[in-house]
Amino acid sequence: MNKMTTQEYNQICIRVCEISRKAGKYISDQLAQVNPSEIEQKGHHNYVTYVDKSAEILIVNDLRELLPNSGFIAEENTAGHESQKFKWIIDPLDGTTNFIHKVPLFCVSIALMEGDEIVVGVVYEVNLDECFYAWKGGKAMLNKNEIFVSPIQDFDNSLLATGFPYYDYGKLEEYVFVFKHFMKHTAGLRRLGSAAADLAYVACGRFEGFYEYGLNSWDVAAGAFIVQMAGGVVTDFSGGNEYLFGREIIAGNPYAHPEMRIVFEELFGRVSNKD
Ligand code: IPD
Ligand code: CA
Ligand code: CA
Repeated sequence: MNKMTTQEYNQICIRVCEISRKAGKYISDQLAQVNPSEIEQKGHHNYVTYVDKSAEILIVNDLRELLPNSGFIAEENTAGHESQKFKWIIDPLDGTTNFIHKVPLFCVSIALMEGDEIVVGVVYEVNLDECFYAWKGGKAMLNKNEIFVSPIQDFDNSLLATGFPYYDYGKLEEYVFVFKHFMKHTAGLRRLGSAAADLAYVACGRFEGFYEYGLNSWDVAAGAFIVQMAGGVVTDFSGGNEYLFGREIIAGNPYAHPEMRIVFEELFGRVSNKD
């Protein structure tokens, strides 16, 4: 089977935006109804509700119709991991802890992989009705407008985002060290509680950079692709390409990214051989 054309990626992307909005509507309709007895813990501080699972089923059904015979990497495991040429990487509700606490910031995140390459990414932030999306050969968009990463060059005036590890504390000391460094040398740090939103905000220039470790592919696949299509740079902590499945990510505009990477290189004692 040949690769799809840019127009086909675009058509799929538009449809994935609709599917994300539909799932987002379901999620926001449930917000007032979730009560503590319906919150389960999948692991240490790792929460899930029936809303995460039902939203994923809705999404998977719609994507199956859109692209029959595609495989899935979906957080709540409602679909098979078949190794198909086309694979969807889905986080039906990124920001579950926010959702449970009724903090209005959570996203639907859907990416399409063709072979080893992401070709479509959609992050839909439900509360502000903001759909961030990009397709291979095309553009990065927020609703109907093209987006670009921030033009700010001065790291000292850069605003960064991060997430705090909540179960894998193996690198906590280094992480705190990095955190202290950025506290002193940037305009500030934010912790939104949704990695997909963090990345989408880098893509549209609200943040100059984002870093986190311990994330899964469904947290970052769509957002990282949108950042790249908006002119940003995404790597793992060593400057390599293992940010999708390697559980560490640095994303930023072309000025903040190298500044951040150098800090990780010095503190984690890693030297990239990729550039
Ligand atoms: C979480 C969010 C959060 C990040 C966590 C993720 P979830 O995803 O992206 O920002 O710090 O590591 O697990 O569990 O709400 O889908
Ligand atoms: Ca997530
Ligand atoms: Ca999730």
